[in-house]
Amino acid sequence: MSLINKLKGLHSEGVISMHVPGHKNNTIGKLSDVIKPEYDLTEIPGLDDLHDPAEILRELNDKLSLKQEGYYAQAMVNGTTNGIICGIYALNETASHFYIVGEAHKSVYHGVSLVNASYSVISIDELYEVDLENACVVFTSPSYTGTLIKNIGEHINYIRKNEAFSIIDAAHGAHLSITENFKESLLLSEADAVIESYHKMLPALTMASVLFTKNLEIHERIMHYINQFETSSPSYLVLASIEYAQEFYNEYDDTVFFEKRTALINHLKEYGVKVAEPDDPGKLMLTSAKGAYNLERSLRNEGIYSEMVTDEGVLWCLPLWHEDDSYPFKELLDKITKLKPAADSAAPVKDIAVLEGKVCHENIVPYPPGVPLVLKGNVITNKDIKRIKHYQVNHVKIEGIDYNINYYMNEAEL
Ligand SMILES: Cc1ncc(COP(=O)(O)O)c(C=O)c1O
Repeated sequence: MSLINKLKGLHSEGVISMHVPGHKNNTIGKLSDVIKPEYDLTEIPGLDDLHDPAEILRELNDKLSLKQEGYYAQAMVNGTTNGIICGIYALNETASHFYIVGEAHKSVYHGVSLVNASYSVISIDELYEVDLENACVVFTSPSYTGTLIKNIGEHINYIRKNEAFSIIDAAHGAHLSITENFKESLLLSEADAVIESYHKMLPALTMASVLFTKNLEIHERIMHYINQFETSSPSYLVLASIEYAQEFYNEYDDTVFFEKRTALINHLKEYGVKVAEPDDPGKLMLTSAKGAYNLERSLRNEGIYSEMVTDEGVLWCLPLWHEDDSYPFKELLDKITKLKPAADSAAPVKDIAVLEGKVCHENIVPYPPGVPLVLKGNVITNKDIKRIKHYQVNHVKIEGIDYNINYYMNEAEL
């Protein structure tokens, strides 16, 4: 089957999206009004230059910067991944050490490893014990599952007072502060750089992200690397979708969202699904008596696709419902009514015993969420092996396993 046929098939089956991108199969907002193949142009006269914007793209960046006074903005077409890596390259010019707070996406580790930076992973409490002078602190907030770091503005303030820099990976937070009923945007934290994936929760095309920077010098330094790492043929469709998502954000009314969210939660509970509500009202974590992995499969059997499943639960990214959206809400409720436990299905487990006690040569990363389980250079323990097997049985894709196995197999042959 070809990719095109696969995509057409999913579309014609009418599958229901509880995952990113935020336009939910073009049912939230109406991206198809502005995204048309005939608008897929290049940097012809009048369409400016994304990496040295002076005209229409400068106007777009200016509009984006109005999201929070005091920030410069740059639309990006290579996702937050590229923004994070470029941010780390730029800050590495002056930072003597990187502190990564809590769990971070693999792009953060790729960034520090590419620049060969010295780094350590710390908790929030440890932030107040380490030497911050000339360091750069990387936060992730909200987390993939919708948890926000409390009082982040105070931590940023403390970092700045200690002459250090801060980057927030806010990939999952582009919709925050969309109304006063959503928790606070990370742009209120005053961090030096905040990077948001517009595509995750807002109606924008996949890969649409925005870099926000607090001062011009850091902005220009990061742009220096964006210029080198980002495609020189940016998609005008992705760029137009960023403008569209920003307008959606500016005009959003949350009345319908909270009505539908409450109705959905009540309906899930009625049909035996337990619902946890994280800080971000746009996320829900679901579990059921048969466990999270079984629940994810039974939802999929009914044509409801979730964002992720882990031991903690099935993660749903809620649609930003609004007046006149075309999201199939009634169909979603009907499908939940029909949920039944899925047949047991353990995936085959790859024999990874050879890796126990060995030094990891490529990050081992369950994907999603893309947070490394074992980092390159660390020893792969018996606990890690058990964890990896557990993920494998439950159909979670693990990146880096084959690379490590091949590495040690080849070494054995030598
Ligand atoms: C916490 C976190 N940061 C960064 C990223 C990368 O964002 P993007 O897909 O926009 O490159 C992800 C992707 O899932 C993520 O979960």
